[in-house]
Amino acid sequence: MITEPIYLDHQATTPLDERVLEAMLPYLTHEYGNPSSPHIYGQAAARAVHSARRRVADLIGATNELEIVFTSGATEADQLAIVGSALAARPRGGHLVTTVIEHKAVLAACQRLIDHNGYTCTRVGVDRHGRVHPADIAAALTPHTVLVSVMHANNEIGTLQQLSAIAEITAPRGIVLHTDAAQSIGYGLLDIAELGIDLASMSAHKLHGPKGIGALYIRGGTRITAQQTGGGQERGLRAGTPNVPAIVGFGAAAHLITADAVPPPSRVRALRDRLQDRLLVAIPGASVNGHPHRRLPGNLSLTLPGIEAADLLGRLPDIAASTGSACNTGSGDPSDVLTAIGLTRAQARATLRLSLGRTTTETDIDRAAHLIARTAHTMAAEPAHMA
Ligand SMILES: Cc1ncc(COP(=O)(O)O)c(C=O)c1O
Repeated sequence: MITEPIYLDHQATTPLDERVLEAMLPYLTHEYGNPSSPHIYGQAAARAVHSARRRVADLIGATNELEIVFTSGATEADQLAIVGSALAARPRGGHLVTTVIEHKAVLAACQRLIDHNGYTCTRVGVDRHGRVHPADIAAALTPHTVLVSVMHANNEIGTLQQLSAIAEITAPRGIVLHTDAAQSIGYGLLDIAELGIDLASMSAHKLHGPKGIGALYIRGGTRITAQQTGGGQERGLRAGTPNVPAIVGFGAAAHLITADAVPPPSRVRALRDRLQDRLLVAIPGASVNGHPHRRLPGNLSLTLPGIEAADLLGRLPDIAASTGSACNTGSGDPSDVLTAIGLTRAQARATLRLSLGRTTTETDIDRAAHLIARTAHTMAAEPAHMA
C-alpha cells in the first residue's frame, strides 16, 4: 500500500477545507460581478464581500465589520499596518518598537521606514521561552514612539505573547499597538476587545482558507495612510478590485471556526503532546523550544543534539516538515528566533519545526515519531556524528 507523506507543516500553510472551496466556487464561475458595480451582478458580489467581512470580524471579536480591510495576505497587512500607521503619525514622532522574533514581513516594513523615511526602531529581546516582557517594551518607549508591533504567536516556536499587558502600556500613551496574528487566528485565539489591540494582521491560508487573501483589522479612529491607492476600494485604504472568491473563502474559513464546525484546539494539542512525548523519550538529549504551556497547540519545535535538521528531513521523504530555520533557507544563516532564545548556531541547525493541524491523525503521529526517531538514531551512529 502506498501511503501519502505525512504533512506536518501547518504553520507554513494549511490545506483548503472542502467546505471553503464549495463556498468559493460560485464566485469563480457564475457570480462574477465586480462589487463596485451598481447592477445585479455587482450587488450579489458586494453582498458576499459584506458577509465575509462580517465573518472575519466575528472571528476576532470586532463589533464593526468596517474595521476589517482585505489585503493580499498577512505580508501586505503588516506593511499597511506598520508603514501606514507610522506615516500617519509622523508629525508626533518617528520611533518604532518591535521585537527580535518578528516575521520578516514586520521587520522589512520597519526597515523600509528606517531606510526611506528617517525613522528609528528598537528591537526588544525575548526570554528563553520566546516571551517578550511588557516591562522591556515600556523601557524601550521614548516620547517619539508612535507604534509598537509585537506578534501574537511566533511562527517557529509558537510562543504566545501577553498582548493585553502591552496594550496597558501603549494605550494610555496614545501609541498604536499592532500585532501579526497570522498564526493564532486559526485557533480562535485573537480577541480584539480583550487584548486591546489597534491593528491586527491576518492570513486565510493559515486557517484552511485560500492563499493570497488576508486582512488588517483597524480599530475605529486609528489613523492609517494607504499604501496602495487607486480606485478607492476598501474605504480608500487598499485600492484594487476585491478578490471576491478569495474573500468569500476567507469568510467561510473564519465561519467554520466560530460555528464550531472544526475539531477543537484541544484535539491538536493532545496529538502534539503525544508526538512530543514520544520523541523526547526516543531521542536522548532532545529538547522542546518555545513556552511550555503558552504556545500554539499545533507547534513542536524540537532540537535534536548533533543532528543536522535539514539532513534528517532530506532522508525522510515521507514527512513534510520544516527546519527551525526555514525562513532563512538559502542564506545558510541560523534562525534569528532560535538564536534569540539562546540556541547556539549548531543547536539552531539541529532544530525541526513539526506543525500539526486539523487534518493530522493519530496514525500520522505514531508513524512520524517512529520515522524521525529511527532516522535520528541512524544519523547519531554515523562516524560524522560521533566525533
Ligand atoms: C507570523 C506570520 N506573518 C506573516 C506571514 C505572511 O503571511 P502571507 O503568506 O499571508 O503573506 C506568515 C506566513 O508565513 C506568518 O507566519
